[in-house]
Amino acid sequence: MVILAIETSCDDTCAALIKANCKKRPSFEILSNIVSSQVKLHAKYGGVYPSLAKREHQRNLPKVLAKALANGKNPKIDLIAVTVGPGLEPCLWQGVNFAKELARKLKLPIVPVNHIEAHIFANLITRPGLVEGFSTGRPGLVIRFPAICLVVSGGHTQLILMKGFGDYKILGETRDDAAGECFDKTARILGLGYPGGPAIAKQAVQPCRKDIPAEYRGRTSIKLPRPMIYQKNYDFSFSGLKTAVLYDFKSRPPKVRTSKEYIQKMATEIQQAIIDVLIHKTLKAAKNLKAKTIILGGGVAANEELRKQFKSNVKCQVSNVKFLVPPKNLCTDNAAMTAVTGYFHFLKKKTPKENLRFPTGQGWKKIKADANLRIENSL
Ligand code: KG4
Ligand code: ZN
Repeated sequence: MVILAIETSCDDTCAALIKANCKKRPSFEILSNIVSSQVKLHAKYGGVYPSLAKREHQRNLPKVLAKALANGKNPKIDLIAVTVGPGLEPCLWQGVNFAKELARKLKLPIVPVNHIEAHIFANLITRPGLVEGFSTGRPGLVIRFPAICLVVSGGHTQLILMKGFGDYKILGETRDDAAGECFDKTARILGLGYPGGPAIAKQAVQPCRKDIPAEYRGRTSIKLPRPMIYQKNYDFSFSGLKTAVLYDFKSRPPKVRTSKEYIQKMATEIQQAIIDVLIHKTLKAAKNLKAKTIILGGGVAANEELRKQFKSNVKCQVSNVKFLVPPKNLCTDNAAMTAVTGYFHFLKKKTPKENLRFPTGQGWKKIKADANLRIENSL
C-alpha cells in the first residue's frame, strides 16, 4: 500500500510517499521524500519564528505535495498520515488542515501521527523486519522490547521506555532547553549561525582531523559542566550549559573569543558535554530496565560524534543490546518517518475506526493539532 504523509511540526515543510510491503516482514520503499527547509528565513532570528514558519508552510505545502507526487510518479494512494503534535501549534495546524482536506477530496482514510514516535520509527524505514508483537511474518525482529528510546531534537529531549508497540512511558525529559536548542543557542553565542548543531559539529575538533593542531584534537582546556549527569533521575537540563558558555565567552577578550582556536575548543567541549550526558543517562536506563534495544532519533542524532560514541559505549557497556540509529538524512524532520509510523498504526488498527473511514465516518473531523501531545497519551 502507498502512504502519503505530511509533516509541518516545526520549520520544515515535508511530504513523502512511501510504499509499504507487508507480505512476510514489513519493508518500505521511499517513492519520494521532500523537505522544504526554512533555515535561511529563520537564520537571522537564531531560531524558529512560529508565525513566519506558519506562513511559509501555507505557501509551501501545495508545492511540496506536487513535487512529492511527481517524484513518486503519481501512484495510487491508500492512506494519508499527518503529524498532529507535539510541535509549534500554528505550524501543526497548517499540515493537519491540509491533510484533512486531501483526505476529504481523495476519500482516503487519515491517521494522526505523534512526531516523537515518528522520530523513533524513522529507524524502521531502511530496515526490513518486524516490531516484536506484530502477528504477521517470521521473526527477524528489528525492535525487541523493552526498548529505551532517546529522542533528541530542537524541541525535545526525552528518554522513553517502550514496553511494546504503542506502549510508552516517559522516563525523563529536559527541564528547560532541549539538546538541539542548546546546540542552537550556544552556536548563536559563538556567532556560528543556525541551525547550531551542524555548525558546532563542523567546528568541533575530530580526533582524526589532521588539519587541526594536535593539542586541540579531542580535548580542550575549557571545561563545561555535565548538567544532572549523576542525578538519580532520568531528567536533563541544558540551559545551565548554555549559561556557562555565555560566561566563558564574555570573560575572554574579544580577540581571543573570536579566534579560530577558541571557537574550535569551545565547540568541541559543548558537543562533548551534551554527548556525555545523553550517553550516560541512556545507558543507565538501559541497564536498570534491562533493555533489549536502544533507539536513537531526532535531529541531534545526525551528529557524527554522538553516533560514534553511542555505538562504542553500547558495545563496551551493554554488548547484548541492539543499537539503532536512523541514517543521518532521516534523523532530522521528514515525512517518510510520519508515513511509516502511520502505517504501523493502520496495521495495528490502533487508530479509532472512524478515523480510518472517510467519508462514511466523521471521526476524521476530530483529528486536531496538539502542540503538547505526549507520546504516552497519543492514539
Ligand atoms: O528533529 P529536528 O529536525 O526538528 C525538531 O523536531 O526539533 O531537530 C532539529 C535540531 C536542531 O536543533 C539542530 O541544531 C539539530 O537538530 N541538529 C544537530 C545536527 N543536525 C541537526 N545537532 C547536532 N549535530 C548535528 N549534526
Ligand atoms: Zn523533529
